[in-house]
Amino acid sequence: MFTGLPQLEAILDKAPIKPKVAIETGTYQGATATKLATIFDTVHTIELKKELYDALDKSNPKVKYHFGDSAVLMPVITPEEPVFFYLDAHYHNFLPEGTTADSWPLWDEIFWISKRPAGDIVVVDDVHAFGSGFKRGKWHEAKPPEIAKRLDRPFNIVGDWLVVYR
Ligand SMILES: C[S@@+](CC[C@H](N)C(=O)[O-])C[C@H]1O[C@@H](n2cnc3c(N)ncnc32)[C@H](O)[C@@H]1O
Repeated sequence: MFTGLPQLEAILDKAPIKPKVAIETGTYQGATATKLATIFDTVHTIELKKELYDALDKSNPKVKYHFGDSAVLMPVITPEEPVFFYLDAHYHNFLPEGTTADSWPLWDEIFWISKRPAGDIVVVDDVHAFGSGFKRGKWHEAKPPEIAKRLDRPFNIVGDWLVVYR
């Protein structure tokens, strides 16, 4: 869940480079993409569930809505400039209505980001679920030091977010 613009502004204030583009994985109902568009020039958001994607209000001109798997689309849509990544395409204890498929693209997303040049900011939502025994996905593997190791940078915890400056 996106916990607030002041929290995001504080993260950006500490960043050596301020990205103009945000990429969110897991659009759900689009609330966070709309909030990100008040800060960034362009927001890309990716949703795998067709029913959710089809139901989105796509009228915000600053938001580009993509249908598909974030692990596949991120390398295709990401520009060659610093990006604020908001990684939220993972379930823990809730599923969107009508959803049955399991999907947990975090390791693929992080592997790809780790190959990019320095300058990105990476936020992973749902720290409270990291390392847990939730049956969906690989939550038991997703501990903050492991995420930071894969991104080859230190991490901060801000509320329910893990934050890495790359
Ligand atoms: C926790 S919700 C996202 C909430 C949203 N970011 C927000 O703040 O309002 C997770 C979403 O990720 C989607 N999702 C799951 N796997 C995905 C994948 N591989 N690629 C893109 N979206 C995915 C789910 O369908 C669901 O809508």
